[in-house]
Amino acid sequence: MNDNGHSSRIEGFYRLTREERLARLAERAGLAESDLAGLREPVPLPFETADHMIENAVGVIGLPLGVGLNFLVNGRERLVPMAIEEPSVIAATSYAARTIRDAGGFFADADPPLMIAQIQLVNVPDVEVATQRLQGATLRLLSAANGVHPNMLRRGGGARRIEVRPLPETACGPMLVVHLIADVGDAMGANAVNSMAEAVAPMIEELTGGTARLRILSNLADQRLARARVRIPFRLLATETLPGEEVAQRMMEAWAFAAADPYRAATHNKGAMNGIDAVALATGQDWRGIEAGAHAFAARDGHYGSLTKWVVHNDVLLGSIELPLAVGIVGGNIECNPRVKFSLRLLGVQTAGELAGIMAAVGLGQNFAAMRALVTDGIQRGHMALHARGVAMAAGASEEMVDEIVEQMIASGEVKLTKAREILQNRNAAACA
Ligand code: MEV
Repeated sequence: MNDNGHSSRIEGFYRLTREERLARLAERAGLAESDLAGLREPVPLPFETADHMIENAVGVIGLPLGVGLNFLVNGRERLVPMAIEEPSVIAATSYAARTIRDAGGFFADADPPLMIAQIQLVNVPDVEVATQRLQGATLRLLSAANGVHPNMLRRGGGARRIEVRPLPETACGPMLVVHLIADVGDAMGANAVNSMAEAVAPMIEELTGGTARLRILSNLADQRLARARVRIPFRLLATETLPGEEVAQRMMEAWAFAAADPYRAATHNKGAMNGIDAVALATGQDWRGIEAGAHAFAARDGHYGSLTKWVVHNDVLLGSIELPLAVGIVGGNIECNPRVKFSLRLLGVQTAGELAGIMAAVGLGQNFAAMRALVTDGIQRGHMALHARGVAMAAGASEEMVDEIVEQMIASGEVKLTKAREILQNRNAAACA
């Protein structure tokens, strides 16, 4: 999308029917009916496809797919597909993005798509000599690695560098680790770098006199970082009862808590990952790899801390996020999943780096939303209202009844299935009387 000048702000979207929502998205994102076809399929993924993707397949599991609204990233409107089971994440991110768009939006960028493959060597007779030989043979090693993926080279990617990492003290004695760093273009790149690592391992053994053991990518893709930042004037943070400056100060304190305390940092980062993982799922990414990379990066200096940073400067709150995001927009999993294709079409990204930047922005927005709620009303108020909708539906409330049941449950202070059933029964009894 969203380069056709249409806004990602769609007022009252949640009140529309599914067909009305799709029509709005199609109009805003310039989608044709054929782009929506994958969404209209009765199952998210044909069983036959699932059966080819994994072993022992018995079915396909469903997850809600929604749209994060109001995103302005690097001056471009973005409608953000998000797959998630947790209520309130999409509402919170859209609300945050609305405040942030009034502050000029998110600014995001990503490093070139460099993935690291590791080759573990044991029994290296002389680490210094091995290191020199590896460095001297860099061009030969890169060319051997590129021999496995000539297409990648043709598209401007391919193996770029060799780095040597001695591990003098492990539980099994000294080891030498070789990092092979490759530009994987618009792919996530795991298969590409894994096969490169396997291809060059015999040459590395010969050069070093050691024995190669593991040959596998690192999910700590710290040469492939994505970043996003925002600059929010105090006036946009004010609530009915608190001035913006106070909210900003409390948010900075909330961040400082996460930066200092791993117990809080885990939850703080989980909030950011609520957004990032939801986009990852919707766009067919390896979300386990993303999670592993994010948390390893959060602990990179030996202390597990916050992925985001929030500071008050003059009369603005400055927020930023940085994390590894190894994501792709090409590859088997993406091509064969109709809903993933829809999600990428809706997002309108042309490169993996663009996707990574948007995901970083969503993570920052989500973290902003959680912190703002936590330092003002507390999280439960918003959560409960949305949770109550799920409870009302689970109790059997029809679309038209949901709002009324939710209101009554919240007024009673009991957001529970038993309460929703009781309200429904009373309502039915009154209707029959
Ligand atoms: C809930 O899924 C996420 C939060 O716990 C994040 C946070 O505490 O910052 C609300």
